[in-house]
Amino acid sequence: MTAITLKDQFGRSIEYLRISITDRCNFRCVYCMPLEGLEWLPKTEILTYEEITEVVRQLAPLGLRRLRLTGGEPTIRPDLVALVGMLKAVPGIEDIALSTNGVKLPELAAPLRAAGLDRVNISADSLRADRIASIARRKFAFDPVVSAQSAEAAGLDPIKLNVVVMRGINDDEIADFARLTLEHPWHVRFIELMPVGEMANLTWEHVVPSEEVLRRASVHGVLEPSGGPARGNGPAAYHRFAGAPGTIGVITPMTHTYCGSCNRVRLTADGRLRTCLYGDHEVNLRDPLRAGAALEPIFRQALADKPKEHNLLQMQVGGLRALSQVGG
Ligand code: 5AD
Ligand code: SF4
Repeated sequence: MTAITLKDQFGRSIEYLRISITDRCNFRCVYCMPLEGLEWLPKTEILTYEEITEVVRQLAPLGLRRLRLTGGEPTIRPDLVALVGMLKAVPGIEDIALSTNGVKLPELAAPLRAAGLDRVNISADSLRADRIASIARRKFAFDPVVSAQSAEAAGLDPIKLNVVVMRGINDDEIADFARLTLEHPWHVRFIELMPVGEMANLTWEHVVPSEEVLRRASVHGVLEPSGGPARGNGPAAYHRFAGAPGTIGVITPMTHTYCGSCNRVRLTADGRLRTCLYGDHEVNLRDPLRAGAALEPIFRQALADKPKEHNLLQMQVGGLRALSQVGG
């Protein structure tokens, strides 16, 4: 197959698709969704695994190379292992990643790896059981460190832990998370809280700028700028303690924009292609797919319309879709 790269109107090549496979979740993270949950999509609205695979099969010849499965929480949809195997079999797909809260990784990491999953991001906002339960507002007997260890043991690589930092809620654990990189070959990424979706009582005052995070992580030594994981698509800037096996990344949606190097588009669980996380740049792929139409022209048009940048910082908070609905 000829390697073509699809570019949008600003010259950004689009080879990375984030696929939300469910809008449902077994957590209710305070920064993500209300305690009572959201209005879930009816099952008939959600793409089947065959349909998801067909979308990928049609986009791969246009240059799509890398996938990430997200949610909601992707591991709560039955037979995730089967989907990974179906996607891995699509010619041109080189890399499949998973974003998960980690609860099911101890049982799923090995079968997912065997089916072709390459790597995993684990959301881990605390290392303390009681606090995990109060941020996720769900209680599971699980430890994110054990989840990361099971992912590592299964051969998933790289392993990233994503920490949404919230002032007064978990910012006192910055040093504990940083210490993990001295002990494990993991990439701990601190994310600035974004005031989107339904967010309990979180406000701009809970945002901890990443410069402050790096300063507070430096208790274990000097953090030097470093390359990140060998394989990755993301916008994190990485740092490392001298000699440490792991790295510390910061993701700064609130203090910087990454739009200039944006390499991604998103597929929602109900089959909408979103070319920007924010705003309403969304086209329906599901109905044309179900009608047997070719997706290529629709995809090309959507990319031509991909916005240059978002204006989150100027936007009203209300009216945005929660990240669990958009696919993170
Ligand atoms: N702010 C920052 N990150 C968020 N995520 C979801 N909601 C938010 C938010 N309001 C991201 C985090 C989390 C993942 C599931 O989605 O990375 O770990
Ligand atoms: Fe679920 Fe992730 Fe949202 Fe938490 S942040 S409620 S784990 S989708």
